[in-house]
Amino acid sequence: MVQINLPENSKIQKGKYYKDKTGSKNLRKVNVYRWDPSTDEKPRIDTYEIDMDNCPSKVLDILNKIKNEIDPSLAYRRSCAHGVCGSCAMNMDGKNGLACTKSHAEIKGDINIYPLPHLKVLKDLIGDLSTLYKQYESVQPWLKTSKKPEKENLQSREDRSKLDGLYECIMCACCSTSCPSYWWNGDKYLGPAVLLQAYRWIIDSRDEDRKERLKKVADELKLYRCHTIMNCTNACPKGLNPAKAIAEIKKMLATSNI
Ligand code: SF4
Ligand code: F3S
Ligand code: FES
Repeated sequence: MVQINLPENSKIQKGKYYKDKTGSKNLRKVNVYRWDPSTDEKPRIDTYEIDMDNCPSKVLDILNKIKNEIDPSLAYRRSCAHGVCGSCAMNMDGKNGLACTKSHAEIKGDINIYPLPHLKVLKDLIGDLSTLYKQYESVQPWLKTSKKPEKENLQSREDRSKLDGLYECIMCACCSTSCPSYWWNGDKYLGPAVLLQAYRWIIDSRDEDRKERLKKVADELKLYRCHTIMNCTNACPKGLNPAKAIAEIKKMLATSNI
């Protein structure tokens, strides 16, 4: 797994230190990025001593423990707690992932938790995904067909299997926020999450808009800013391969007359 550098970390000042009050002999230190941009305060790292004898196994359990028992002001997204909604994506131990599926036992030493890299911070661990969602909308992620929706729109098993490795994407943004091209050109380059989604619709046998879809992404900035760095595939917590999806789009364009 690729280590994501967070170049500004060294400049972030130390914040509050929350000492354990339980008397536990099994403590771990958890350093959490804190910032509320709506105030004059600067970003800081707060440290919490956590009683691991009374904490379930995932990083999200630590955050819930902090919020419920120590510091209710901590802000982070979460919903399903089972790796299916994508909302708890963050940077843990220098790697992007889902807090609800990441085991804290895998992390050696202090546990460092930051928001996903290179997003505008809305508060604490919550990054601003509005640009990514607009880009997602721009690829029109729905089936385009002139068929009347009176009965099922079937596809062969073979065609259906082409969507494997794509339909499982939960739009968590771990891939896009680990991609240096997306860091520097995120306003124009669509990034791996959105391009994987674009490809998912391009190759759906039931869709009648393939050519238009390809035309829409065939752009120096939207697509060709991918330089095969591969962080995206290494970062995906669902084991998907957005780099391959991007390569497939490029291949389709190279062999078409678009
Ligand atoms: Fe998340 Fe993987 Fe989808 Fe990227 S491809 S958004 S990392 S699930
Ligand atoms: Fe970025 Fe992945 Fe391409 S890390 S450059 S989208 S292969
Ligand atoms: Fe839904 Fe983690 S809370 S993926």
